[in-house]
Amino acid sequence: MRILSGIQASGSLHLGNYLGALKKFTDMQALDAERFYMIADLHAITVWQDPANLLSQTREIAACYLAAGVTPEQSVIFAQSSVPEHTELGWLFNCVARLGWLDRMTQFKDKAGKDKERASIGLYTYPVLQAADILLYKATHVPVGEDQRQHLELTRDVAKKFNHDYKTDYFPLPETLYQGPGARIMSLRDGLAKMSKSDPSDNSRINLTDTADTIASKIKKAKSDAEVLPEAPEGLDDRPEAKNLVGIYAALAGVSVQDVLNDFGGKGFGAFKPALADVVVDKMSPVSERLRGLLNEPTEIDRVLKIGAEKARAAAAPVVQDVKKIIGLWG
Ligand code: AMP
Ligand code: TRP
Repeated sequence: MRILSGIQASGSLHLGNYLGALKKFTDMQALDAERFYMIADLHAITVWQDPANLLSQTREIAACYLAAGVTPEQSVIFAQSSVPEHTELGWLFNCVARLGWLDRMTQFKDKAGKDKERASIGLYTYPVLQAADILLYKATHVPVGEDQRQHLELTRDVAKKFNHDYKTDYFPLPETLYQGPGARIMSLRDGLAKMSKSDPSDNSRINLTDTADTIASKIKKAKSDAEVLPEAPEGLDDRPEAKNLVGIYAALAGVSVQDVLNDFGGKGFGAFKPALADVVVDKMSPVSERLRGLLNEPTEIDRVLKIGAEKARAAAAPVVQDVKKIIGLWG
């Protein structure tokens, strides 16, 4: 089993990133596997990044990994740009992936907006680089949030087409691990919108850097409804805000939605919200405390990233050599 995942080096992380990705990264350290967790700084520059901030954003994501409990002893933690094989395999895969596949990508449509003529070519070919990130390590399992599903399907398509065109079984078809109540956390202000770094309202999300008081106040202000909680999960189906808050509780406490409803079914938000705030503060404040400490230790972060870069390059270089040979390139 080989695990690879990454988070873009753009903006601070929130509870959605924690439950969709980071928590899974740490939980997977209990498995017998090789783990590669990268900071996707090359993906970040598909939209403009101020050079004065990019390095600190990369270090901040690395600090989030460490604060969440990813350790350099159990996992290879590295910056994507420190392993040039990512871009090299990315080019080779640009010649495998088809335009029609990329035309279907909803993230490009969302991010490019109406003015797609002015979007970078990198933003368009972003999922091809992501396929390279994953297949470069011949990863078999990729923990991500639900929003990455389409990119993972494209990764499998690239692996299949490469294997088919070159009559080989070189690349495994990686499995996406996005299951569980944390796979899609919604905004605290709107149960139909994803919790996101780019939402202008800070009250819409819980940031990894929020203090216990801020967390409690955001939960108190979170949008809910006037009904009591149902006895069974189906009762949440047309109540997006209630469903999201119960899901957050379940994901953080490590119990099922039914377990939460066994305790809170028949009770209103006046009783549920304080209990939810306690769970969120209990689970998140140790992470934010560690994070605040690590943000003051850039040299320690750089040390971890340097060790990671060496290990990742050692794993990546032979794969690119193999692929070039399969394709018939002189190099
Ligand atoms: P990003 O910040 O877009 O690079 O996302 C990093 C990771 O967090 C990816 O695995 C995403 O799928 C996951 N993620 C982002 N937003 C959410 C959310 N609202 N709920 C669950 N997972 C999320
Ligand atoms: N595109 C992912 C995101 O926005 C980040 C990412 C880049 C990634 N490369 C990856 C995730 C490889 C998993 C595997 O969240």
